[in-house]
Amino acid sequence: MERHLVIGASGQLGIELIIGMQDRYGVSAVVSSDIRKSDDDDVNRGEFILLDATNKEAVRKVLVDGKFTHVYHLVAMLSAKGEENPLAGWDLNMTSLLNVLECAKEGLVKKVFWPSSIAVFGPNAPKNATAQDTFCDPTTVYGVSKVAGELWCKYYFEHYGVDVRSLRYPGLIGHRSQPGGGTTDYAVEAFYRALEGKKFDCYLEKNEALPMMYMDDAIRATLNLMEAPSECVRVRTSYNLSGCSFSPSELSDEIRKTIPDFETVYNPDARQQIAASWPDSIDDTDARSDWGWNAKYDIEGLVAAMLKALKR
Ligand code: SER
Repeated sequence: MERHLVIGASGQLGIELIIGMQDRYGVSAVVSSDIRKSDDDDVNRGEFILLDATNKEAVRKVLVDGKFTHVYHLVAMLSAKGEENPLAGWDLNMTSLLNVLECAKEGLVKKVFWPSSIAVFGPNAPKNATAQDTFCDPTTVYGVSKVAGELWCKYYFEHYGVDVRSLRYPGLIGHRSQPGGGTTDYAVEAFYRALEGKKFDCYLEKNEALPMMYMDDAIRATLNLMEAPSECVRVRTSYNLSGCSFSPSELSDEIRKTIPDFETVYNPDARQQIAASWPDSIDDTDARSDWGWNAKYDIEGLVAAMLKALKR
């Protein structure tokens, strides 16, 4: 029987992934773990384990006791917060990943998922339709940790046969919880301000386009990649993944189609520099051809889905 453990389950992605997996595999097949419990009632239908992923012995004990087959290791300090605490970001992101990979090397789990990001790219990568294999010269500690993590995943796959799979997520937009510490977070905040009838103070420049993805697409991509036959998963660093791409002003225009009074003002801060170093859009040909990826949500679909869900 498959047993799925999500580590870092109380964050923006974890909450959605838990619920997506509860729907697909059943509540009892999915266990969440984190250093704090989420307050999402749906997530909390399942079992929760208190776990600090930087403690290797604690990770090993949870895997041994729980007899998990699949681990989704989502723990990370994101781009903006990482720039405030570079060494802490590096330490958290790398130590926790290596702890999980070491346990997988011991055979304590069959498959590992680990998220990478568009943050692996830097100023020298082409901005549009950024290819799978191009310059990865990130300017943030988060991006550096993702490039290093991708190479560690490939190393554990090639040297020890660890079946670890990964996606380079765009900015993720979901309605169940808010992100924290990232550069793409503005796009979630915009919806809350719009529905509160408040002016939105955006920390990016109005024309700063970034790759983005609605959460349903992200969860579907994650689970489809994990279910793909091993021989189809040819990229063992991390797959480029594309949903849609938009700038703050394009997002505001789209929201205004439903909420005509919505107003955005632009006051770029340090996060603008991070955003400027990332691609505008992503080429995900390999994900499409290797395991049949196809995004469903464009900007219109994403905005409609977010407004509908948040109103509810
Ligand atoms: N959403 C992340 C961030 O903004 C990028 O993966 O840091």
